[in-house]
Amino acid sequence: MHKKTASYDATAALCMVVFAMSCTTRYFYVANASDPAPLQDFCVAVDHPSPHTGIPTFINGKFCKNPKEVVINDFLYKGFNIPGDTNNTQRAKVTALDINRFPALNTLGVSMARVDFAPFGLNTPHSHPRASEVTAVIEGSLYAGFITTDNRLFDTVLNKGDVMVFPQGLIHFQLNLGKKTALAIAAFGSQDPGRVDVAESVFGSRPNILDEVLTKAYQVDDKIVEKLRAQFSSHNVSVDTGRSILKLFAQASSDDCGY
Ligand code: GLV
Ligand code: MN
Repeated sequence: MHKKTASYDATAALCMVVFAMSCTTRYFYVANASDPAPLQDFCVAVDHPSPHTGIPTFINGKFCKNPKEVVINDFLYKGFNIPGDTNNTQRAKVTALDINRFPALNTLGVSMARVDFAPFGLNTPHSHPRASEVTAVIEGSLYAGFITTDNRLFDTVLNKGDVMVFPQGLIHFQLNLGKKTALAIAAFGSQDPGRVDVAESVFGSRPNILDEVLTKAYQVDDKIVEKLRAQFSSHNVSVDTGRSILKLFAQASSDDCGY
């Protein structure tokens, strides 16, 4: 009787191990089956390499240097101690140390940035489509926050030594509260987190988003839209592409479209 119980116990334990293993295997199988995260905004597929270069313009990331030619200097970046120039409208400067500045990061899934703030400087509301961010305050005090997809604001004051995480894709900002300069160091879970500046994307796109879209979206008249666009005019080269709402009506397929 005692023996039988022991053998039942052993069988039950074995079953549990097999069950756990099958769950684990299944878990890893599912994880392995997923596609790698995109490393750029888009990558339109082509069947053949470019006739000009003989190679596709990009793969999902950048091409790798021949490992035999790689040297220690490829893994080093120097000058991250140099402050960014905050002499701009927002009085803050983000210096991104991503794949575009530091090729050794290719395929490694990490990058950094330093954010320099002049007194009361602002790192404008923006998001990173491809990465979460962890930011440490090295000098100064910042008012920082992010907004969730249901418009909840999480905000706080960060002092020297404080670290805050900004979840992937969510809009966030940092404002220097001090009369002195401030410095934050950010780390990202992508070699190329990307940055979408909310106002600049909407009002500084090239070409312009049509007035009909922006006036309706923001419930303001076209003069205000024009004024907001003007804030980003330095980026607004070649905005006149001949787009108009009338031309769009003409392209729409339904008979119901138009005035
Ligand atoms: C800070 O938010 C940064 O993106 O560097
Ligand atoms: Mn950021």
